Amino acid sequence: MGAELHETAKALVAEGKGILAADESTGTIKKRFDSIQLESTEDNRRAYRELLFTTPGVEEYISGVILYDETIRQSASDGTPFPKLLADRGIIPGIKVDLGAKPLALAEGETVTEGLDGLRERFAEYYELGARFSKWRATYSIDAQRPSEYCVWTNAHALGRYAALSQEAGIVPIVEPEVLMDGDHSIERAAKATGRAQQALFTELHDQRVDLYGTLLKPNMVLSGYEAGDRAGVNEVAEATLDVLTRHVPAAVPGIVFLSGGQTDEDATAHLNAMNARGPHPWELSFSYGRALQAPAIKSWGGDPANVEEAQKAFYRRAKFNSAARTGSYAPEMEAAAV
Ligand code: 13P
Repeated sequence: MGAELHETAKALVAEGKGILAADESTGTIKKRFDSIQLESTEDNRRAYRELLFTTPGVEEYISGVILYDETIRQSASDGTPFPKLLADRGIIPGIKVDLGAKPLALAEGETVTEGLDGLRERFAEYYELGARFSKWRATYSIDAQRPSEYCVWTNAHALGRYAALSQEAGIVPIVEPEVLMDGDHSIERAAKATGRAQQALFTELHDQRVDLYGTLLKPNMVLSGYEAGDRAGVNEVAEATLDVLTRHVPAAVPGIVFLSGGQTDEDATAHLNAMNARGPHPWELSFSYGRALQAPAIKSWGGDPANVEEAQKAFYRRAKFNSAARTGSYAPEMEAAAV
């Protein structure tokens, strides 16, 4: 069991590869479809995911795809179940298992992520359906009083319980403590909050006997708040993020796969690139982007079957640039060139 978890975790952060997060919940994918004036029907959701998963050549850059409960049960138009379609291309199927961040009792403005009840049974089913890794996201917001220690520890405890159950089922957990970058906070404030959340998380993972060699961390990057006046640039973001990770993430963790969290797709690539350019690091530094991999693709598609090829090219392009960022060999000038 241990060896299999270690192998899967390493394969997810294999050289030049990263993860596509395509696990938008029904509510979130509706928001994405609203932006292209497309109705969020089950078949539109299926068609969109098929477009992404069948993109020619993308397996060169994508090691795994995180699916949503509905998506892991869906099939391509030729009848091939999505998990099989991905696995046949050498892409590891994953599954989002949390049931979302809900208001934390007696803590205004803070959340705790739910989904532990019945999770052992759900993991057994997801394993049967082909999932070999999973994801659980906790969120923390920043302001003068937040995140509170209460929010930090309740979420860390739930992440630990989730990760232990995932490993018991033979599924690699991706623990995602996302400090949200909304607000006008400084980059120093983001660094403190991010480090605090990670420190508590690794305390809980240790106490709950989670094997770090079979675990991946999915953190936010350390940024100035999106509404801050003089926002930190690429080098400052790379250095602040690396400093937090160095202080708080054990070297036993094989890989760190960042979320994009509302950064532009080009910023997300440039930040990852700047961090890898400062390597080597104790862990692989890679991506597990949702929006930053999909934004140009969904826009090109617009819900029209005639645009599938163009949308696939847009997705392939972002995957390729982020792959280059894995080795610090991305340059913004590449954006202007045709791929
Ligand atoms: P973003 O990259 O769009 O933040 O999504 C990643 C993700 O999986 C959030 O849970």
